[in-house]
Amino acid sequence: MSADLQFTVEPNTQPASDDQRAQILANPGFGQYFTDHMAIATWTRDNGWHDARITAFGPLELSPATSVFHYAQTIFEGMKAYRHPDDSIHMFRPEANAARFNRSAKRLALPELPEEAFLDSLRKLIEIDKAWVPTGGETSLYLRPFMFGSDPFLGVRPSAQVTYCAIASPAGSYFAKGVKPVRIWLSEEYTRAAPGGTGAAKTGGNYASSLLAQAEAIEQGCDQVAFLDAVEKKWVEELGGMNLYFVLDDSTVVTPELSGTILEGITRDSILKLVTDLGYTVTERKISIDEWRDGAASGRIQEVFACGTAAVITPVASLKWNGGEVQVADGEGGKVTAAVRSALLDLQYGRATDTHGWMTKV
Ligand code: COI
Repeated sequence: MSADLQFTVEPNTQPASDDQRAQILANPGFGQYFTDHMAIATWTRDNGWHDARITAFGPLELSPATSVFHYAQTIFEGMKAYRHPDDSIHMFRPEANAARFNRSAKRLALPELPEEAFLDSLRKLIEIDKAWVPTGGETSLYLRPFMFGSDPFLGVRPSAQVTYCAIASPAGSYFAKGVKPVRIWLSEEYTRAAPGGTGAAKTGGNYASSLLAQAEAIEQGCDQVAFLDAVEKKWVEELGGMNLYFVLDDSTVVTPELSGTILEGITRDSILKLVTDLGYTVTERKISIDEWRDGAASGRIQEVFACGTAAVITPVASLKWNGGEVQVADGEGGKVTAAVRSALLDLQYGRATDTHGWMTKV
């Protein structure tokens, strides 16, 4: 039943009015408003994937015993669809998200969703809600596919019933202050992921465990928190929901290597290629927190930027810790950050030739 899972389309009989939608699209913010439809499918241990539908966006009715509420067996993806100048709509590297979704599923003992079914759900969701894809500026339709154990059972074991769902949300900038350099708080007390844990999977628990440290960052007047490795508390891993890049004074670009505890960001991976296209040397290696602190102080580190689907590419202004703060260059972001940001956005918004074959037309 799973192999050729197709999503049937049941249009919402009470969609938002044109006026309501226009008002939302004029100022979408991030993650606050949702389109008229969602995709949903069910998996059971006995019957595999079935009952796949695009239906009206609305609440899910779940027993309080549903396993995800208790044991957090859940994964998600973050992706975007972009409106191009000719009004066509394109997803960015959706097959990479499909593959990562299944890697996360494996780690969380969830069933894999056939890649074609994942793509079918998103194509059909975007198609029926295409009026919700914003136009202009750095706006897009943010897509949030997710999967969770939906069995109403309190025993600790992989859920015998699983729900797949995908929702869509018109999006502007992830940060409320727009595209401005961000201050980073170094979490020395908390870590995000340990070897053998779930750090490389896109699972809710990783984000839940970042929240207290993120709240500390806000208290410290910062925008985001940076985590170190859990063993030596020495190596820079990632932010609460974004990967990091460093630009050194010899124009070498460096990002922390995938250690098994870092999320394999698709934006991170795309930047490895875009930076090479731009003529820079890029290296994946360990970066210690001392290298960041000392390099920013001496000027050896000229630029730092954060990247992710939601955050795109955001310059880092400074690193703050308990006892000090160091600014990165003039705190405004530099030319490599700007160049790679433009290269990525030009591709995503259809202003540049898609030489890597990353865009998928809906
Ligand atoms: C994304 O960049 O899409 C993410 O998933 C990070 C965050 C919003 C949770």
